[in-house]
Amino acid sequence: MLHLAHGLTDVPIAHNRVSCRASKPTQRFLAMMGSNSGRARARAHSNIALVKYWGKRDAVLNLPAVGSISVTLDGLYTDTEVIFDAKATIDRVALNGAQTDPTRFSRFLDLVRRRAGIDKRAIVVSDNNFPTGAGLASSASGFAALALAASAAAGLTMNSRELSILARQGSGSAARSILGGLVEMHRGDADNGLDAYAEPILDADTWPLEVVVAITDTGVKSVDSTAGMQSSGTASDFYPAWVEHAERDLAGMRSAIADRDFTAVGELTEYSCLKMHGLMLSTRPGLIYWNAATVAAMHAVRKLRADGLPVYFTIDAGPQVKALCAPGHADAVAAALAKVPGVLETRITALGPAAFRVE
Ligand code: DP6
Repeated sequence: MLHLAHGLTDVPIAHNRVSCRASKPTQRFLAMMGSNSGRARARAHSNIALVKYWGKRDAVLNLPAVGSISVTLDGLYTDTEVIFDAKATIDRVALNGAQTDPTRFSRFLDLVRRRAGIDKRAIVVSDNNFPTGAGLASSASGFAALALAASAAAGLTMNSRELSILARQGSGSAARSILGGLVEMHRGDADNGLDAYAEPILDADTWPLEVVVAITDTGVKSVDSTAGMQSSGTASDFYPAWVEHAERDLAGMRSAIADRDFTAVGELTEYSCLKMHGLMLSTRPGLIYWNAATVAAMHAVRKLRADGLPVYFTIDAGPQVKALCAPGHADAVAAALAKVPGVLETRITALGPAAFRVE
């Protein structure tokens, strides 16, 4: 795989030689729609934040109120193909083999069309290798893959900073999925959002952390992140404190990563997760994303730690628990979490690469 080189934010993302065949439903969909030039495919991986993003400073440009730091996950990804078709009259989207409402995609494709000076409608075919909309950051990998595939299909050459800014306008966390390894998303201050993008901190091989994902529910969550964070911004007394102290948490995490201090990284990870969920719980009406198995898995992680395993939990806006493990400990953690009542499945993943194009 071709990783984005560390710090090379002003070079175009290269083609990847990995060949990636369309799934059967995807091939049927493409055959049905016909094909044309102006076509590109991309893969982007999901990510989880160690220092969390929750809240916006601008809803239109989707500018975050706080920066965030994440790890990109090798095992969870989205493959997306975009075809700009001169004959198409509307945008059509197939998500995991089923036609889906194109509204959110069309709004995003308009950004690409405007930049490229084209007005062709698009066929978008997107497949996740994990449950969609259940707190596994499918919007992160989804909009990152769409940003890369759509911009390439439109004939644009964009560097990773430009792609991150574009992906952010689809979903804030997607800005981070353009990059691999450990990644920082900058909150930025500018009104036009040009300083709100993600950058790599360390690439995936430099510190081979592992993550165990414990899936406790595969259903779609009741309140999505966009709606949830909008409520927290206006209806939680805790929100001003959340924004005020974000920079301190980010600085702590940057220095813990620079020192490769797993304990400090892990402690800050749990802290940021619990603080964000405290903010969610304090919102009126309260946002409760956990189920019984989520809580049981959190206790299990702390018990494993008390028994000497280097592992810390984090949880996004959903019921799944992600256990951050020091290199070499994921198998033992996964075996223990698989026994927690209500845990349906565990997946082990290494840190993943930057988004890339597939042929
Ligand atoms: C809890 O990126 O899904 O996962 O920008 O509105 O699309 P939008 O929100 P989204 O929110 C992610 C929130 C989180 C924390 C995080 O990933 O940092």
